[in-house]
Amino acid sequence: MIDSRSLLGIENLGRDEIASILNRASQFSLEKPQPILSGRRIVLLFYEPSTRTRVSFEMAAKALGATTYLVHATASSIEKGESLLDTGLTLHAMGAEAIVIRHPSSGAPAFLARHLDILIVNAGDGMHEHPSQALLDAFTIREAKGRIEGLKIAVIGDIFHSRVARSDVHLLSRFGAEIVMSGPPELVPDVAVTLAPGLKLTRDVDEAIAGADVVMLLRVQKERLGGLPIFVERYVAEYQMTPARLARAKPDALVMHPGPMVRGMELTDAVADSSRSLVLRQVRNGVPVRMAILARALAN
Ligand code: NCD
Repeated sequence: MIDSRSLLGIENLGRDEIASILNRASQFSLEKPQPILSGRRIVLLFYEPSTRTRVSFEMAAKALGATTYLVHATASSIEKGESLLDTGLTLHAMGAEAIVIRHPSSGAPAFLARHLDILIVNAGDGMHEHPSQALLDAFTIREAKGRIEGLKIAVIGDIFHSRVARSDVHLLSRFGAEIVMSGPPELVPDVAVTLAPGLKLTRDVDEAIAGADVVMLLRVQKERLGGLPIFVERYVAEYQMTPARLARAKPDALVMHPGPMVRGMELTDAVADSSRSLVLRQVRNGVPVRMAILARALAN
């Protein structure tokens, strides 16, 4: 039995659970530490590179008074061939109470949650889900726009290989956003519309952007393309977000990106640095949202 306080994905998380995490996050901030997890032991187990997610989980844990231990695949016995389960059993035997895990294989967090008596938080698994990112994106949209319901959100780029897109689409569609996806067929296959009810797909990026309240951009996941060639010039010509393209959105439209941004690819500097960009607010909101996720997992 998987402990329901673990956070494995958005797809199977109820609407009320999501709302309660978002509401709890609005009571937290880095500037006001609350030592409700004082003395608790949280391991950050990262099998893939990370800047934002790792540091903000660590800041969140510390703002709640917990002690964190970082295990990096390249600097641990994982390099020597230790299995995921043996690594988990080892951390459990040492007294870890929760593991925040990022892993290249979809399902790795659920596997650990099934086999270990320990709380698991998914910090991104393969092409599957990235629930804490979707929660912080929803939090940021609510903060900036006051609501999610009824907003037109254009999701543009590498949706197929993106765990962020999958989690975001599950969450935002469940809260009543109108989602229009756009990208070339190799990055947004036709089946993408079956991810959630009511999704729309257009190959014409200008149509996706027209009248949008939020334009969400995604990085092309080069490390997950498995040899598939990407035609950079074509992608840039057809899908890159420029000020001229953005002008088709609502006058108060905002731009989001989970990071890391590849400037000159999915967006231009002018868009990345414009006053419409929420990118740094997303990063900032990652801390209180992850405080809420860890408090939900570990606070009594
Ligand atoms: C993303 C990830 O790792 O899934 N980054 C993040 O956590 N903010 C997106 C990406 O790598 O493009």
